[in-house]
Amino acid sequence: MIKLDGIHVSTEIKKQIATEVLALKNNCKKIPHLAAVLVGDDGASETYVNAKVKDCAEVGFQSTLIRLPSTISENELITEINKLNNNDAIDGFIVQLPIPKHINEQIIIKTIAPNKDVDGFHPQSVGKMALNLHTFIPATPLGVLKLIEHYKIETAGKHCVVIGRSHIVGSPMSILMGRNAYPGNCTVTLTHSKTKNLKEICLTADIIIAALGKPEFLTADYVKQGAVVIDVGITRVKSDLTKSGYKLLGDVKYDEVSAKCSYITPVPGGVGPMTRAALLLNTLFAVKK
Ligand code: GUN
Repeated sequence: MIKLDGIHVSTEIKKQIATEVLALKNNCKKIPHLAAVLVGDDGASETYVNAKVKDCAEVGFQSTLIRLPSTISENELITEINKLNNNDAIDGFIVQLPIPKHINEQIIIKTIAPNKDVDGFHPQSVGKMALNLHTFIPATPLGVLKLIEHYKIETAGKHCVVIGRSHIVGSPMSILMGRNAYPGNCTVTLTHSKTKNLKEICLTADIIIAALGKPEFLTADYVKQGAVVIDVGITRVKSDLTKSGYKLLGDVKYDEVSAKCSYITPVPGGVGPMTRAALLLNTLFAVKK
């Protein structure tokens, strides 16, 4: 079994990005600039956005964090987004999800200018991705592709089972693994909460991508000997065994599943750091475009 080391691979990617940033600075007097919009005070979102700001500093990007109150109206948020759309100093930006329930998420995503949509959530980006055109790819699926690519894992003709159909991970992941590309060219099954016989389907999988958000859901009895298992889940659960009082669990029961796998991602240290590096790649792509 080979552990897919997201910390190592993401560090390599960040080094390459930092080198490109230096060249952009020297040759074009340009420093990539990412903005993040954080609406409200959700603890997890706060952590994620702070990590994104830190990542920018690490590779030499400029970053701007825009904090807005949870009481902001949809129209006011649209106004803020349009300011970013029209601000030439900002190369790309994200609106951290989830946003408060009184605001329509799809309307907000559609307001983001497609050329600054570094999350790859705009319908134009999703459509281009499905057509295998060059565009922004959502950060978590892009991070998974980069990890598969780094370890040269074969994907053509393999049966890839994706568990979970979120717009952020499962749905784009299924499109990407089925594209005529590497990584890709899989026969893909996208499974979700209404899927019947999930276990039987998973047992036929060469590659399983678990993105359902249920800690330790995928047990060894779902996994064929020699399968590749990618764990996108990351849930904070209480623990008496750690100083902080909590631990992070993936969607995969690591100890028993890893014994059957050819490759597996750990949690933490697998997909998480790759997602962070992928957002930086998308920001650099926004500058180059
Ligand atoms: N919330 C959870 N993941 C993401 C992400 O990749 N982008 C944004 N904008 N919000 C998220």
